[in-house]
Amino acid sequence: KMTSTFLLIGHIVLLIPLLSAEECVICNYFVLVGEPTAISCPIITLPMVHPDYNLTWYKNGSVTPVTVERDARIHQREGLLWFIPAILEDSGLYECHVRRLNHSNQKTIKLTVFKNDNGLCFNGKMKFEQKVTSTNTGKIICPDLDIFKDEDNNQPEVHWYKECKPGFLEDKRLLLAEGENAVWIHNVTVQDRGNYTCHMVYTYMGKKYNVSRTVSLEVKEGPRRPEFIYPKNNTIEVELGSHVVMECNISSGINGLIPFWQVNDEDVDSFDRTYMEQFYEERMPHGLAVSGTKFNISKVKVKDYAHRFFCHFVYGTQQFTAYIKLERPARNIQGYLIGGGVSLVFLVFFTLFVYKIFKIDIVLWYRDSCRPFLGKKVSDGKIYDAYVLYPKNRESCLYSSDIFALKILPEVLERQCGYNLFIFGRDDLPGEGKLSEEKLHSS
Ligand SMILES: *[C@@H]1O[C@H](CO)[C@@H](O)[C@H](O)[C@H]1NC(C)=O
Ligand SMILES: *[C@@H]1O[C@H](CO)[C@@H](O)[C@H](O)[C@H]1NC(C)=O
Ligand SMILES: *[C@@H]1O[C@H](CO)[C@@H](O)[C@H](O)[C@H]1NC(C)=O
Ligand SMILES: *[C@@H]1O[C@H](CO)[C@@H](O)[C@H](O)[C@H]1NC(C)=O
Ligand SMILES: *[C@@H]1O[C@H](CO)[C@@H](O)[C@H](O)[C@H]1NC(C)=O
Ligand SMILES: *[C@@H]1O[C@H](CO)[C@@H](O)[C@H](O)[C@H]1NC(C)=O
Ligand SMILES: *[C@@H]1O[C@H](CO)[C@@H](O)[C@H](O)[C@H]1NC(C)=O
Ligand SMILES: *[C@@H]1O[C@H](CO)[C@@H](O)[C@H](O)[C@H]1NC(C)=O
Ligand SMILES: *[C@@H]1O[C@H](CO)[C@@H](O)[C@H](O)[C@H]1NC(C)=O
Repeated sequence: KMTSTFLLIGHIVLLIPLLSAEECVICNYFVLVGEPTAISCPIITLPMVHPDYNLTWYKNGSVTPVTVERDARIHQREGLLWFIPAILEDSGLYECHVRRLNHSNQKTIKLTVFKNDNGLCFNGKMKFEQKVTSTNTGKIICPDLDIFKDEDNNQPEVHWYKECKPGFLEDKRLLLAEGENAVWIHNVTVQDRGNYTCHMVYTYMGKKYNVSRTVSLEVKEGPRRPEFIYPKNNTIEVELGSHVVMECNISSGINGLIPFWQVNDEDVDSFDRTYMEQFYEERMPHGLAVSGTKFNISKVKVKDYAHRFFCHFVYGTQQFTAYIKLERPARNIQGYLIGGGVSLVFLVFFTLFVYKIFKIDIVLWYRDSCRPFLGKKVSDGKIYDAYVLYPKNRESCLYSSDIFALKILPEVLERQCGYNLFIFGRDDLPGEGKLSEEKLHSS
């Protein structure tokens, strides 16, 4: 019993809403019509139920205390003033009187019962304001639900709505917080601002009542995550002996975040005494800052090509790294390759062109110059280079065309020029009539 009393006290302390209790002259409380609420006396902090004093609630101006009957719509119980549920007419002033043995005190509170705004599931005047920071993880908390336990001291299930519509939890960035009346938001964006309503059904004396809270969520612009401007894990080509400025810079919304260089797992000035880092930080508009470090390599040495130069900065618990690598300029092999390729293609085309036009001459020249070594094998794939038709005169062998075709032509063309001729009457063997047609075709 003791523990449950203490638990109750713990909850009630949490319940004191929105205001610094002692400071308000008349403390304001709000409830939506039709919903239950329980009001605590602002001058009592700890503990609410205590043998040393008696706490009594009165309606403003009344001398009779509010009833302690648990089934009355308005009653007082365990130091709280209950409305189960509130109706519009309950709006008004209430007093809590605290009596000690030698001392008494009292406080007036104001309760306002609101209706939902037209078409909405909440009233804009009674929203809880909460803030989250963009890009970070944030949390929306459904406040002041702790006293609404069912008979088994369990909290009824809470349902969430955004702009009075369910389903926004389908976004994978949003997650119900286990065991809490809260929602986690990962990677907060400005789109997450809005009116979030949490809703549960509270059962009292066998009757069900809605309990809802609406949180107006604001999204604050978080500090910009720092990021490298330069380097970008790149290589640069530098000649041996040339002068290079090695610069690393970051942009961020955080002041005093200065990067530093390392190479071969040591600071650059340990790697080479002449590598003196110079740090700088510049304020930019919109709360941004650019900070950086640079050092001169006045003459690039061979060892500078051997390592990556790493630039680091530490943000939170994380170290961020980017590097740059120096490289000797490569010979322009590519240029040669491209030039060579072009001329090769040109050469091939030129060759084909020449071959097409002077094909016969080339074959003949080739045949001529190679005949001594290759004998008859040299050929362009054809059996004959030309065929000779002439008017046949079988009657007289002395006929001039016969003599020309069979004697002079072969003498000049075949012996002196190297042509292979097909001559009717000489190369058409008997019974080869069909074959010679094919031979002609392929000539
Ligand atoms: C509180 O009220 C009860 C009876 O209602 C009374 O017996 C008790 O003495 C009171 N205590 C104080 C501190 O006034
Ligand atoms: C509260 O009670 C005081 C005195 O009894 C009275 O003067 C005042 O008008 C009442 N206020 C309300 C809002 O009932
Ligand atoms: C009330 O009485 C207690 C002792 O019972 C005493 O310690 C305390 O100072 C008194 N308070 C006032 C305000 O007189
Ligand atoms: C949040 O953003 C980070 C980096 O942009 C990403 O790796 C992570 O998956 C995101 N988380 C969720 C829940 O979307
Ligand atoms: C939240 O509700 C108010 C009305 O109370 C409305 O004017 C406002 O546009 C809503 N916010 C968003 C982000 O929809
Ligand atoms: C409780 O709210 C639901 C919608 O969320 C509504 O349908 C129902 O009528 C409400 N119940 C009471 C008793 O107001
Ligand atoms: C960051 O460093 C790069 C590389 O040296 C330089 O070109 C650029 O101007 C620097 N940016 C700022 C804002 O200093
Ligand atoms: C780098 O060399 C330039 C001149 O080339 C000089 O102005 C600058 O101060 C040097 N920086 C460092 C860090 O030594
Ligand atoms: C650059 O290289 C570092 C170290 O190798 C690595 O941690 C980082 O993720 C790289 N950054 C990018 C943009 O690739």
